[in-house]
Amino acid sequence: MMVIGVPSETAVNENRVALTPKTVVQLRKLGYDVMVEQGAGLKAGLPDAAFQAAGAVLMDKTATWGADIVLRVVAPSDAELALLHPGATLIAFLEPRFDQTMVDKCAAAGITALSMDMIPRISRAQSMDALSSMANISGYRAVVEAAHAFGRFLGGQVTAAGKVLPANVFIIGTGVAGLAAIGVANSMGAVVRATDVRPETAEQVESMGATFVQVNAAQVAQEVSADGYAKETSDDYNQRAAIMYAEQVKQADIVIATAAVPGKASPRLITAQMVAAMTPGSVIVDLAAPGGGNCELTKPGLSYVTDNGVTIIGYTDMVSRLAGQSSQLYARNVANLVGLLTPEPNGVPVVNFDDEIVRTATITLNGTVTFPPPAVQVSAPVAANVLSEQSPAPPPKSPLPWPIQVAAITVAAVAASLLLSLAPTAFLSSLAVFTLATVAGYYVVWGVTSALHTPLMSLSNAISGIIVVGAMWQLSSDSGLVRLIAALAIVVAVINIVGGFVITSRMVAMFRKEAR
Ligand code: NAI
Repeated sequence: MMVIGVPSETAVNENRVALTPKTVVQLRKLGYDVMVEQGAGLKAGLPDAAFQAAGAVLMDKTATWGADIVLRVVAPSDAELALLHPGATLIAFLEPRFDQTMVDKCAAAGITALSMDMIPRISRAQSMDALSSMANISGYRAVVEAAHAFGRFLGGQVTAAGKVLPANVFIIGTGVAGLAAIGVANSMGAVVRATDVRPETAEQVESMGATFVQVNAAQVAQEVSADGYAKETSDDYNQRAAIMYAEQVKQADIVIATAAVPGKASPRLITAQMVAAMTPGSVIVDLAAPGGGNCELTKPGLSYVTDNGVTIIGYTDMVSRLAGQSSQLYARNVANLVGLLTPEPNGVPVVNFDDEIVRTATITLNGTVTFPPPAVQVSAPVAANVLSEQSPAPPPKSPLPWPIQVAAITVAAVAASLLLSLAPTAFLSSLAVFTLATVAGYYVVWGVTSALHTPLMSLSNAISGIIVVGAMWQLSSDSGLVRLIAALAIVVAVINIVGGFVITSRMVAMFRKEAR
């Protein structure tokens, strides 16, 4: 049975802790013993007594760093790394894409290191995706900070004392943080506009009640993301984007900038000139500050007011400002990853490279560098229609020369006409209905966006229900063939209905809250 250690966080302004009492219980059920450094949870509102009650043992710094598996939020300092023993496993935000030296240091320490920021954005990894859970919190906090600095209502009001206009909020980058910010700003009554370089996010933005503002993309094709993250943009795109940003930033009371490309410095989107055109009292919250900022004037870690009265907030510790909840979510992400590493509840982790989540997150394995991992393809290329508008698809290549194709089509058409002229009238009318239904069904199904496939499934369940009723009706037919087809139709339709219910129930279970 192995021991998990949770040392306290030592980075400046870091209030989180890597485990909570609840997740201590979760890990003990997997067969681990858990040691927590005294006072590790205090800044997140989690007293030592709560950890003890959950079954953790309180130890000092050296002991927790000496555990078999060490769980942290922020990457260790050199002194802390030296406390790990060779063969130990470290799980934290190690940010290997930004800091290759951390990879080398982990290798030199002879440890296995898994980086929480390397968890791929795939459905199966959602419960471990700490970047997303932290970005969600930072998006929320960004609006709260903005509203505080703005000092006015975000929602419009008509009162006896006069009319108050709603605030205009402009969100740049509609990843996890941006979408969370849209949700909060919208719920506070602001008028929200948002933009992103990934065209497929337009639908999500609009479903959250904001207006999507697009760079003139008819001329500049932006690719649909294959991994849920953005790529760097072309110069042509950037020039067109600058025109749009100048317009939108000027109109906005609050700008929340979250644009990020993994492993790269934050794209510079808001210039000093754009800030100078903003109304005094406006606010920019630059969540991209840890990567340098989306705004030219951002001072990472600071909030200040420009000469023309615009507040620019560049805090890099947004998540830590909600330390209780961020610890709760991070701890759950980490505990789920440890759960994935623990196939049997015997307290023994197995780093299985056949699992793409484990493979991608592991940056060193027993002192050997395993970073960078092979690429993971994650999100489906949803917006096929968006792409086809921007770049017409090349004509399909035919394997046969055209005279043979024409001859084949003519023969098929003549044969079909002969057959149809011999067929009974009742068959012809049924065939016509079937053909029309096939064509209509094809266009309806492919025209529905993937986000609406669940309601579509319910509809297809309803149709299957009608098929079952119709087929049962036909079971009393005199013809054996008709009875056979009816029986087959019932079996197939019932499979569809039952399958639909099973899938729906699995999806609903993913959203079910655990009992507190
Ligand atoms: P994400 O990758 O989910 O979203 C970033 C979005 O920016 C993507 O949708 C991407 O398409 C978009 N984007 C990239 N380049 C763009 C461009 N040139 N123009 C317009 N959009 C562009 O990232 P997530 O998880 O939402 O995080 C957002 C940012 O917040 C990151 O920089 C992250 O480091 C930061 N963050 C900051 C914290 C703080 O305390 N300040 C705390 C947590 C996260």
